[in-house]
Amino acid sequence: MDKDDIICSLDIGSDSLVCAVGKFTPDDKIELLYAASKKCKKGIKGGVVINIASLSNTLRELMDEVESEAGIRITEVYAAVRGSHLESLNNQGIYNITRSDREIITEDVYSVIENAKTIHLRNEREIIHVIPQNFSVDGEKGFENPVGMEGNTLETSVHIITGNISHLNNISKAIANSGFNISEHVYHIYPLSEVVLSEEEKKLGCAVIDIGDQITSIAVYSDGKIRFSKDIPLGSYFITHDIALLAHVPFDVADSLKENYGYAISSMLDNDSEIEVLSMDKTSKKKINQSTLIDYIKPRVEELLVEIKEIIDKNKVSMPELENINAIILTGGGSMLKGMDKAFEKVFNISDVRYGRVSDEYVVIKDKKYLNQKYTTAISLLCYPIFIKPQIEQFSNNVGSNGFIQFLKWVKNIFS
Ligand SMILES: Nc1ncnc2c1ncn2[C@@H]1O[C@H](COP(=O)(O)OP(=O)(O)O)[C@@H](O)[C@H]1O
Ligand SMILES: [Mg+2]
Repeated sequence: MDKDDIICSLDIGSDSLVCAVGKFTPDDKIELLYAASKKCKKGIKGGVVINIASLSNTLRELMDEVESEAGIRITEVYAAVRGSHLESLNNQGIYNITRSDREIITEDVYSVIENAKTIHLRNEREIIHVIPQNFSVDGEKGFENPVGMEGNTLETSVHIITGNISHLNNISKAIANSGFNISEHVYHIYPLSEVVLSEEEKKLGCAVIDIGDQITSIAVYSDGKIRFSKDIPLGSYFITHDIALLAHVPFDVADSLKENYGYAISSMLDNDSEIEVLSMDKTSKKKINQSTLIDYIKPRVEELLVEIKEIIDKNKVSMPELENINAIILTGGGSMLKGMDKAFEKVFNISDVRYGRVSDEYVVIKDKKYLNQKYTTAISLLCYPIFIKPQIEQFSNNVGSNGFIQFLKWVKNIFS
């Protein structure tokens, strides 16, 4: 990617599509030029395409808006993917240096990464990212870059993220049908975590929890690197669903009740009040107590937080690094439910819970309206090609497969 290029990211959320565009600044940051979002309930569900035509149409409308408002032409997009079909694992690689001088060269590092990438992959899956964690030389751990060191045995551990090929291809097809090239699929929680966490948080151990509409994504960092990542099919939609069901109100009314009067924990409510809302028939009105609303919300919040905790606890058995969670960083529209940070403090028994924001070390955001959590993923993805991809690919000539994207590019070249 050229530093003069416009960078375009597309967050394919479980509630809406968010597109952000940015440009590189002379002081080596990215300036956010514009971002916009559009709901696409008919085209995508839980991160999986359910109607390609509908997704392509919504994408076209969204990109038209971004192009005309920002006064730019978009050709390529980085697409943030999510969904329960994404899986991650840590794997080890080993490589023996047989040359007589035993000095480690870049090609040896390529080879050890290649070895670590060798995993059993079911036919329907492909690798999206291979993220190097650390290298060790002759059993001595903790090298960021072993090139130039002397040693007999080079070892590494990598965090590998895989996805279902058909689900990824359907996203590529929808983007291609709307007239754009897809640069790469990116598992959104990774660039998001990289740019909302401080180096200290990564080092001391923390968890990033991105609460979307129907998908919640979890990443755990320890000793500076990502150690665990997972998407689960739970999110803020299920709170809206229960409010609509139990209060007998339309979904849009339930959404606004949640956003304007909802709390994740009841102790935050000082004075109970009656709220007047539209009934299911959308003509008559009814009243609901705020305390009753919170009674509808609380079980879903508890369900989500307990599930996240259980997943992390279960994985501690094979990954002791997950014991080191000293802070929790929340992102995503669902995290904006009032008191969500307090609920995390309680369930995880951690006092350091904060909301994530893309560090201004990476992105200059002049318009404060973009500080809303629904933009965080798309903005963080702008950092991927410039700040993150070069880091993870420095020791690998051919990391993620993104095979279908390469095929689409090949077809486009032939016919252009
Ligand atoms: N202020 C708010 N309070 C509570 N929930 C909110 C608030 N703002 C947005 N949400 C909820 O966040 C969810 C959307 O989050 P978002 O990150 O945009 O979703 P996704 O990334 O899955 O597309 C919706 O369920 C929405 O109702
Ligand atoms: Mg989101």
